[in-house]
Amino acid sequence: MQISPSILSADFANLQAELEAIADADWAHVDVMDNHFVPNLTLGLPVVEALLRVSPVPIDCHLMIEDPDRWAPPYAEAGAGSVTFHIEAVADPVRTARAIRAAGARAAFAVKPGTPFSPYVDLLPEVDMVLVMTVEPGFGGQSFMADQMPKVREVREAVRRHGGEIWVQVDGGVSASTIEQCAEAGADVFVAGSAVYGAPSAAEAIDHLRELAARHTH
Ligand code: DX5
Ligand code: ZN
Repeated sequence: MQISPSILSADFANLQAELEAIADADWAHVDVMDNHFVPNLTLGLPVVEALLRVSPVPIDCHLMIEDPDRWAPPYAEAGAGSVTFHIEAVADPVRTARAIRAAGARAAFAVKPGTPFSPYVDLLPEVDMVLVMTVEPGFGGQSFMADQMPKVREVREAVRRHGGEIWVQVDGGVSASTIEQCAEAGADVFVAGSAVYGAPSAAEAIDHLRELAARHTH
């Protein structure tokens, strides 16, 4: 059970301190948005490079960008521990996932709420994680979409059949009141932005989320 707090809900004027506040987490989730794939703009490679220099935990890059074939591998080359591209945006997922892995990072693809998983099951040998979005990508603080749980189950079953160590990540609206159903459905990596950075203590929020997830795994 791994917790990956999203710094999208952190104080962007104090990112080093905000990363130190989540030193107990497994990852720091960094949402890269280009204002084309999603209607929001956050940060890009130069900022990720700066975060990598100071982060106490490995960086989990979620690329909500067009043309990840071109732009994803440099995040792996810069030292991100995990790089996720959107399946809706990629032209050659096999080549892009291989380039990410060749640079030493874990590779993952993400599916938006309206995107089915089944057409992509053959990509499992090429990736280390599948991200099932539980909100429409673009913004933090949105409501959790429980109707994505059957897809989480479907991915978990496909991973089981395939074998190997492929993680199933959920992202969007994950909180103390929604994490249990994600764990029950088979997720094992949980992104939480507002539930961590909106809490009085980020460290306590992380521990609490991890405990709830661990109790509902099977
Ligand atoms: C949404 C981002 C999420 C977001 C999650 O497009 O991918 O990572 O930061 O924020 P919460 O946990 O507040 O829904
Ligand atoms: Zn994200």
